[in-house]
Amino acid sequence: MNTFVFALHYLLQPLLNRRRVPLLWRRARGPFEPAPLSDSCEPAARTGCGRPGHPQPAVFTSVDARIALTAVSPRVWRVVVSRPGESPYRSWSVVGDAEEPLGVERRAAGFTVSTAGGAGESGRGSPPGTPGLAAEIDRRSGHLSFHFAGTLLHRDEAAPAASSREGWVRCVTEAPVREWYVGFGERSGPLFKNGRRLVMWNTDERFMRTSSDPLYQSCPLQIAVRADGRAHGIFYDNPSYSVFRVGGHGERPRTRYAAEGGPLCYYVLAGPSLGDVLSQFTRLTGRPPLPPYWALGHHHSRWEEEESAARIERTARLFRERRIPCDVLHLDIGHMEGHRCFTWRRGRFPDPGALVGTLHGLGFRAVVMTDPGLKRDPDWDIYREGVAGDHFCRRADGGVFHAPVWAGQSAFPDYLRGETRTWWGGLYRRYTDVGIDGFWIDMNEPSLFIPRSTMPDSVVHRPDGEGAGPEARLGHRRAHNLYGLMMAAATRTGLLTLRPGRRPFLLTRSGFAGVQRYAASWTGDNRSNFGHYRMSIPMLLNMGLSGQAMVGPDTGGFWGSPAPELMARWFQLAAVYPFCRNHTKAGTPPQEPWAFGEEVEEIVRASLGLRYSLLPYLYTCLSRSHADGRPVLRPLFMEFPGDGRCLEAANAETELMVGHALLAAPVLRAGARARPVYLPAGGPWYDYHDGSVLPGGCVHAISAPLTHMPLFARAGSVVPTVAPCMTSEEARTSVLVLRVYPGREIRGAVYLDDGETTRYEAGERAEIRVRGGADSRPGPEAEITLEITREGDESLPLLGAHRGLRVLVAAPQTPAEAVRAVGTAAPAGGENRPGGAVARPLVTAEGCAVDGVGRSGGFVRFGISELRMPARLVLHLSSP
Ligand code: GLC
Repeated sequence: MNTFVFALHYLLQPLLNRRRVPLLWRRARGPFEPAPLSDSCEPAARTGCGRPGHPQPAVFTSVDARIALTAVSPRVWRVVVSRPGESPYRSWSVVGDAEEPLGVERRAAGFTVSTAGGAGESGRGSPPGTPGLAAEIDRRSGHLSFHFAGTLLHRDEAAPAASSREGWVRCVTEAPVREWYVGFGERSGPLFKNGRRLVMWNTDERFMRTSSDPLYQSCPLQIAVRADGRAHGIFYDNPSYSVFRVGGHGERPRTRYAAEGGPLCYYVLAGPSLGDVLSQFTRLTGRPPLPPYWALGHHHSRWEEEESAARIERTARLFRERRIPCDVLHLDIGHMEGHRCFTWRRGRFPDPGALVGTLHGLGFRAVVMTDPGLKRDPDWDIYREGVAGDHFCRRADGGVFHAPVWAGQSAFPDYLRGETRTWWGGLYRRYTDVGIDGFWIDMNEPSLFIPRSTMPDSVVHRPDGEGAGPEARLGHRRAHNLYGLMMAAATRTGLLTLRPGRRPFLLTRSGFAGVQRYAASWTGDNRSNFGHYRMSIPMLLNMGLSGQAMVGPDTGGFWGSPAPELMARWFQLAAVYPFCRNHTKAGTPPQEPWAFGEEVEEIVRASLGLRYSLLPYLYTCLSRSHADGRPVLRPLFMEFPGDGRCLEAANAETELMVGHALLAAPVLRAGARARPVYLPAGGPWYDYHDGSVLPGGCVHAISAPLTHMPLFARAGSVVPTVAPCMTSEEARTSVLVLRVYPGREIRGAVYLDDGETTRYEAGERAEIRVRGGADSRPGPEAEITLEITREGDESLPLLGAHRGLRVLVAAPQTPAEAVRAVGTAAPAGGENRPGGAVARPLVTAEGCAVDGVGRSGGFVRFGISELRMPARLVLHLSSP
């Protein structure tokens, strides 16, 4: 396509898609009264409402509005505000829903609603005494205020009877104190969204800047964090085009939310911790499934229009020859015949199965891309099937809608239809039959090469399933934000049907609230500059705070070519991102790690070596996200609530926690060889590289030569690792090394399963837990106790696939001679070998034997054999 026309589309798209939020809103007419019981059910839920196990919501009606409050749990309530004639609430995001009874009490000015145990108390199915939400409704205006455990969360003005323009709904919330706002899904810009205007409209922003909004995904979840560390959330479950004007930094911030279609539905998530909010949100919208273990390895990709099996194989061999850890190679659209998805360009890929076999032989996995656009080609069986099966989105006049994308004029599956999802899912057989391991879906905003870059409003989608009648038709504006989510749903379900029992690896660009239950996400077409590298931190943190655990950017940048220094720094950071992939645009200079000179190559090798050594830890973090929705990447204030300095932007968006134990402080400026690092209060920190100890609660000037990124371990943590290696399979099977960072209390875990199948969902998983503590004697004298237990499926080998166990205890203050001396003392079982240099044993062990004691770096290292669980180790460190 003509470059000028192409550029024009992308310049015009934000203007053409933008909708003005109505200025005038007419308020609902009170008074509001509790509705008669027969009217209490929400139309979409009439089937179960009021039956045993389906308690009625608390409903209030006036002449022109209806407000229904439903307790999904004592701490999560749904509010639906509707007007006569409005379509019922139907959710595409919410999958987990139960209901608790609500009680209503009349007050002078209105009503108090609370879960059955009374105001603020728990209801059915929750432990007695669990505080719950309570709401007050103003009889005259219908305004609600939500309280939790005696604290006012917010007041809303959610009941306008009509806007100046048909169809729009809005909600204005006012907080009683200063709040910091996070969440909102994938967004550019700073971590805190206070004072910003955020649009929910999935967009392929071709000229992505660090201020571009909106981007590819939307998640209308607003999380408020307070100075005391408490947090609560409001999730607006509405896929329509919508706009937030997020409250500022003042004492009583007001946030305005407006959506182009009703009804207004939002969930209040009471927290009270940030982790609780995430757990509540992902209970509603689904938790991320575990990816296959290999997906945690390093992915390498580049968009190469002249792609070939020979080039892919050459790249694979180069990674092995140069000893750069790597697990996955991606095949972009260049592998297809004329950009027809599910086909191979035969001249260049004569035998795709053989290529995949070669890659597997070299220890690689292969991921291929598919786009939704299917070429309009009546000679192509997939297009013909799509037309015959009525699978494509339609124009208003009933014809198939076509528009240009990579393959030229194309048709687009209507993923909101169940039959179409099944058909689409089945197409992946063409890839699974040749052994392709993972899948990458793109352009699913949907992104088209026409002005506005997406489907016209008149395009029709035909959703089915619960709540949809035979006449159900959705105009594209209403379906737009759901397109990527439902493409991901169709693809994942298809893969599970084609390969029952095998975990899919699926990567998507677009999505909406809940996408985490289907796919991992990357952050789209970023740029090779320091600004985009820096932005990846707040961006990924907010995606994590929107339920997504497996996320990462194009490392090195998609547009352009990174300077060698940027490449080195970006890889250091990507080494601790859950999804770690190098990807670049067609036509850019080579972006393989060896393209930047020997020094950078070595830095990338070492960074990836560190990543591979951390794979047991990262996998354990992902297992936590799967279990309770807490993300892998966490802002400091999630782990250290109440430490006000963690809310300072300079710390909050330049440092990040990787799981519970590690704090990464990447160097974010070109030329910098040191940076200030705030280490949160509450205990000392250990430098991950040399084991030295630094106090918490203050800023340190940390030196950071180009060779490494500052990384710190929290006192009291246990980080499961392995020795650096080339593939994730090596990591999964090598000796497990528990790095223990003593603190008054010690805790940590290692998650184990087969890494490949879905059997973990049926309970075939286990966890090694380490609990213990160090006595508080300062200096070289210390006693550290570790209890190692295992929970879960007993049929799994004790250490999973790991070949053995070693323990490293950070003990930087213990003189080397002390360890050497006791090291000769054969401390197994607590016995000193005759001639040993110390009076006390180094280790007392129960449930295992200890051998090979020594010192490496700032650690005391010892091997464990004859392990049984529970095991107990007491490490006595003393001067000789
Ligand atoms: C889109 C994707 C990018 C991909 C390209 C070609 O721009 O975001 O990752 O390489 O399309 O398929």
